[in-house]
Amino acid sequence: MLSPEENDYLTQTDPGTPMGAFMRRFWTPFMLSREISEPDGAPVRVRVLGESLIAFRDTDGRVGLVDEFCPHRRVSLFFGRNEASGIRCVYHGWKFDVDGNCLDLPSEPADSNFKDKIRLKAYPVQEKAGIIWAYMGPKELKGELPQLEWMDVPDDYIYQSRWYQESNYAQAVEGEIDSAHVSFLHSKLDNDTANKAALTGVFFSEDRAPKWKVTESDSGMTLGARRIVDEGRYYWRMNQWLYPYYTMIAPVPGESRTVRMWVPADDGHCNIICITYRNDCPVSEQELHNWRTGAVAHAEVIPGTLITAANSGNDYNIDREFQRTGSFTGIVGIRAQDMAMTESAGAIVDRSQEHLGTSDTAIIKMRRLLIDGARNLEKGVEPPSAQDGALFNIRSSSVVYDEDVDFDEKPDVLSSMQVAETPGNFPGARTAE
Ligand code: FES
Ligand SMILES: [Fe+2]
Repeated sequence: MLSPEENDYLTQTDPGTPMGAFMRRFWTPFMLSREISEPDGAPVRVRVLGESLIAFRDTDGRVGLVDEFCPHRRVSLFFGRNEASGIRCVYHGWKFDVDGNCLDLPSEPADSNFKDKIRLKAYPVQEKAGIIWAYMGPKELKGELPQLEWMDVPDDYIYQSRWYQESNYAQAVEGEIDSAHVSFLHSKLDNDTANKAALTGVFFSEDRAPKWKVTESDSGMTLGARRIVDEGRYYWRMNQWLYPYYTMIAPVPGESRTVRMWVPADDGHCNIICITYRNDCPVSEQELHNWRTGAVAHAEVIPGTLITAANSGNDYNIDREFQRTGSFTGIVGIRAQDMAMTESAGAIVDRSQEHLGTSDTAIIKMRRLLIDGARNLEKGVEPPSAQDGALFNIRSSSVVYDEDVDFDEKPDVLSSMQVAETPGNFPGARTAE
């Protein structure tokens, strides 16, 4: 549990808040490249860390992330004309480039130098692997983009999506790193307990009270959950949480990997960016279909929106008959099940009312790391992971072991989590790197 003051400290990320300052030290992923794929295409509204912004791609393909509101009389640039290397406010025609420079101020006399004094707030951006990041912190402290494994895979090895959740980022992340809920929330009523050969959900139903081992590092923490498979054998599931909101779920060996970014839109909303990728072969048509429809890993959204099809307004389409006969929840889809839980606590859960147990070890640790990080920053200590992208060169992993040892005592487990080097070739890739 947290005191109400600590809860505010953890969850508030608007400009001027300590956690907001901490998060702004990192490059912030905020949307997908394909959402603004066309030069001079329609601008898109984006909420990031409590700020209302507009993203657009200019004539030359450069991306701008700027204040939504025109510096003249503060109307929305969402209605602006994206043309000739800048965005032009349709109210009085003021025009700005992706860096926020005022290019034209046609409502003032031609000999006026007013234009040189006007700027639109604009953030530096970088695009990589179909995602766009912004840097919203102090200029002189701008560090490196995180070096994540999927940033270097070919286009046909990866799929990206984005959607919104009606909750604070912290409880969304807590839902993701909480390995204990998998045995309940995502379970079916007909688990095949005979099938122990594969690393499947069966392990979650066999042992519902995993032993936890959490190890900290400069990049975040590895969350090891150990479950008994049978006598003398343990299933270790090692997820990653990386500063300030990246999560990596342990994949079934040989299958695709999933990374999610739980970026605060504002204190009551979370902007979720999800990546699934392979590093051994291009993704199959079936995988793509499953991801695009939200059947696996990604969420099903209402077409043309970032709103999930199963949402609080329809009680996530809970089916009570299905709950009695086939599914623990009666809700279809892992994403919908997770979202139903994390949103149902309210936009910002009151952590002073909780009763945490041993299964909440990782959640307690994540809160402490974030709060300590922000407190240290208030004392002038910068977070190392905001500067050094190589700290993010890590994977999640899962494995079955015969003996009772902690995962961090097994060199082969640790090496399975390190991305030693970027593979030079990608079999079957459409485009060689
Ligand atoms: S409000 Fe934008 S140009 Fe006047
Ligand atoms: Fe879940």
